[in-house]
Amino acid sequence: MLHRLIHSHLFLCTYVLSIQIVAATAAAAATTNAYSRFNSSFTPDHLRYLKNETKALFQHAWSSYINYGFPADEVRPLTCEPYGPDYKDVTNTVRNDAMANISLTMLDNLDTLIIMGQWDELESALKYLKTNQKEFFNQDTIVQVFEATIRFLGGLLSTHLILTDVIKVDALSSSASTTKARSAPPPPLPPTSLNRLREISANYDGFLLGMAHDLGLRLIPSYRTRTNIPVPRINLAKGLKDVPPPLQKDACTSGVTTPVLEFTLLSRLTGDYQFEYYSQLAFWKIWSSKLQLNLLPMTIDPFSNQWKDSITGIGASIDSFYEYAAKSAILFDDDHMWSVFKTSYQALLTHLAQSDEGSMIFPNINNQDGVLFSDWIDSLSAFWSGLQVLTGQLTDAIKTHVVYLKIWDHFDSIPERWIYSHRNSKKNRRKIYRAEDSIELEWYPLRPEFIESTYYLYRATRDPMYLHIGERILYLFQNTYKAPCGFSGFQDVRTGQKQNRMETFVLGETLKYLYLLFDVEDEAILHNKVLMRGKNWIFSTEAHPLWYHKNLYNRSAQGFLGAAGEESKINPAIIRNTTIVKPELFEIPDGGLNALAHVTKKDPYGSRFDTCQLNPLGKAPNSFLESSFYNWDHLFKADYTFQNSLKKPRHVTRTNLDGSYIELSRSFYDKFTMFQTPLICPRMPTTHVYEIFWGDIKEATRLEVSLLKVSDDATENKIIYNDDLWVPNLLGLRIQFEELKVDDIDAKNKVITIDYLHLLLHGLNSTQPVDTGLKGLRVRRVNGVDVKLGAAVWTLPFQVNEKDKDTVQVTEGGRVVLEGKIVENLMVWYG
Ligand SMILES: *[C@@H]1O[C@H](CO)[C@@H](O)[C@H](O)[C@H]1NC(C)=O
Ligand SMILES: *[C@@H]1O[C@H](CO)[C@@H](O)[C@H](O)[C@H]1NC(C)=O
Ligand SMILES: *[C@@H]1O[C@H](CO)[C@@H](O)[C@H](O)[C@H]1NC(C)=O
Ligand SMILES: *[C@@H]1O[C@H](CO)[C@@H](O)[C@H](O)[C@H]1NC(C)=O
Ligand SMILES: *[C@@H]1O[C@H](CO)[C@@H](O)[C@H](O)[C@H]1NC(C)=O
Ligand SMILES: *[C@@H]1O[C@H](CO)[C@@H](O)[C@H](O)[C@H]1NC(C)=O
Repeated sequence: MLHRLIHSHLFLCTYVLSIQIVAATAAAAATTNAYSRFNSSFTPDHLRYLKNETKALFQHAWSSYINYGFPADEVRPLTCEPYGPDYKDVTNTVRNDAMANISLTMLDNLDTLIIMGQWDELESALKYLKTNQKEFFNQDTIVQVFEATIRFLGGLLSTHLILTDVIKVDALSSSASTTKARSAPPPPLPPTSLNRLREISANYDGFLLGMAHDLGLRLIPSYRTRTNIPVPRINLAKGLKDVPPPLQKDACTSGVTTPVLEFTLLSRLTGDYQFEYYSQLAFWKIWSSKLQLNLLPMTIDPFSNQWKDSITGIGASIDSFYEYAAKSAILFDDDHMWSVFKTSYQALLTHLAQSDEGSMIFPNINNQDGVLFSDWIDSLSAFWSGLQVLTGQLTDAIKTHVVYLKIWDHFDSIPERWIYSHRNSKKNRRKIYRAEDSIELEWYPLRPEFIESTYYLYRATRDPMYLHIGERILYLFQNTYKAPCGFSGFQDVRTGQKQNRMETFVLGETLKYLYLLFDVEDEAILHNKVLMRGKNWIFSTEAHPLWYHKNLYNRSAQGFLGAAGEESKINPAIIRNTTIVKPELFEIPDGGLNALAHVTKKDPYGSRFDTCQLNPLGKAPNSFLESSFYNWDHLFKADYTFQNSLKKPRHVTRTNLDGSYIELSRSFYDKFTMFQTPLICPRMPTTHVYEIFWGDIKEATRLEVSLLKVSDDATENKIIYNDDLWVPNLLGLRIQFEELKVDDIDAKNKVITIDYLHLLLHGLNSTQPVDTGLKGLRVRRVNGVDVKLGAAVWTLPFQVNEKDKDTVQVTEGGRVVLEGKIVENLMVWYG
């Protein structure tokens, strides 16, 4: 006899908010000036003001660069000096990898100038590049192929696309489409801005694509290795000659796979196939050598084709591999690339993701055995929630992003590596942690990833909270990060010490995304639905807008090949020879679950990628002055989960940011809860959550996990409910358990009682004596699939080895007992 007995009521209380708001009020009274800065109305005027302020910051940095840095690659923000490659020490890769004496701040920001409508600056930059194009990349410097691809090549390709395929096309089609215009009038652009771009486009002869081809030819020898795995660095003038061997030893997964997107686009635009051929070959070769958990390690030796480590994650060294699998799928309509992303995402959810109702993080694991490798996450991984939005994983995106929001709340930045968990050992149980204890690498060079994800989330949810985050970041740029010649981030987040460097991404990504976040009215060219119609555009990993369609090939390549000469002989068809292995499903024996006609099974991962999620926090977008964050029961769960790691360094407590956390800023909170019931937060659970492997983790990729759906008209057998899971085999599972101890508050906000555990173990009407030491477990995730609170996990009867008899038992009611703990929601199906 199977009982279904899973409790489900909620007790609510409001203490979290009341404490925080009191703190905010006190601080606000002390700093009235700072408080009044935050307007939070987000009316069209206010948004235009925020955009204008962002543009003013860009102009400050750009003119600093032109006056004090140009023609060098960068300007040093604190000392106003030009900054370029370290010619004395070629092994200074930190400095040299992304610099080449090629006016990089300019090259990487041509499209930023367009997006911000800086036409005079654009015209003189184009003029300079055109004059110097011939010898431009003939520089005796060693660059990293990855950085050169995303910054130099991406900048050129993106600007080429905008100048040839936005306004020019518009000009062509608008003359022919006076009748069409009647049905859908284009949203008016400020006419002067359109005219200037039209003029610049009309005078553009495609020379940037020529420069891109020249650069591509200088980079491609790095791919012509015996193994087809590229070496990481090359000398732009001399090729592979004279690059010291230590600089070529290790290639990272991002470095090897990422150029596939820009290189494929370069081939499609120029008709010279070698870039696509070599970069795709390397991509698929790497993918086919993934390890048994369906995940790639992070470092490979390009000479021996051997993996050098067995660590994997989503941050530095591997981040853009996932990003470009998804974005290549979009750009080139490529199903193979899409399966790479889906397979990877499933493996990441299964083996890396640590998640509950209020947060989600993806730390590093060992790729052989799935064991956690690090207790930190890195600053670069803040891009992940943006990618989750792009690939339709909106719930995951919100829960991932909120962790970085909390980090920003405490550090006014994202430290390069942040330690998310301090395990309290017996010895340091009472230790009080300070901000410094949670910082493994202490710098913040104004990286864009957090604001990038905030932009994606705003576009997907239209929740004003994301605009408010942007407003706070803008304030920090105006007050904390602004330097005499641009912007300088933290050399040391702990002390607030500044860094005398402004990398090109500060303008090209951070300020670009901030500007586009505030472009709610879609005035920027990229947001213009008419000008960008039919373009499957994406942002490259360096925030360069890129797209591709077949007409482009003819338009670019015809003119281009005429000048460049013969077409390459390489046949691009061979590179698609890769089979994607689908995980095999186990057969369910006759008379098993299939005997229930009203129950159907669904692949939980398949349905993830087949449907578009709406804002999971509930509220409809654009509801007047409301933020759905204030309907979210778990807004403060992450503060609790990471409480030992979220502390403010002293210099941050002294900033004038109306004293509060972003999500509780007074000006915003007051306005955006005006028509809402006040925020109510459940008590935080005190239960312990942990993961185990059951059986061999290598089986995880083959094991079936199905989501059960019960047909609406089912009357019989109310034992299975919607959202229950079906896991026919337990060997090969990664299971997350919540431990149920008497008097703990569980994830459902309910106090665990001994009567409840007794009931689970013995069923109703039991005459057994109550064992007051009884403990319980609840399954929360299996192989990356969340078990909804209140749902059960069903499995087939299984044999227990003689030696495990004491460890695993099954009760008469069909529940599993593990090491004497009754599992609340793991049920054995006897058919
Ligand atoms: C907010 O700022 C906008 C733009 O500066 C201004 O028009 C508006 O009046 C301000 N609102 C408040 C309440 O201060
Ligand atoms: C935009 O900013 C500039 C420079 O900071 C200022 O002169 C101008 O008045 C601002 N315009 C608007 C509409 O706020
Ligand atoms: C940097 O580039 C400029 C312009 O191409 C060139 O004149 C100069 O010699 C280069 N500097 C070095 C150190 O090579
Ligand atoms: C490109 O141009 C050639 C020759 O003009 C034409 O035959 C071909 O169909 C065009 N391809 C596309 C995709 O438009
Ligand atoms: C694909 O690869 C397999 C095995 O490597 C080979 O036998 C086959 O000929 C290849 N197919 C093509 C179209 O190149
Ligand atoms: C438990 O006892 C009640 C009342 O005595 C009875 O109605 C019910 O059927 C019993 N349940 C079981 C599972 O024996």
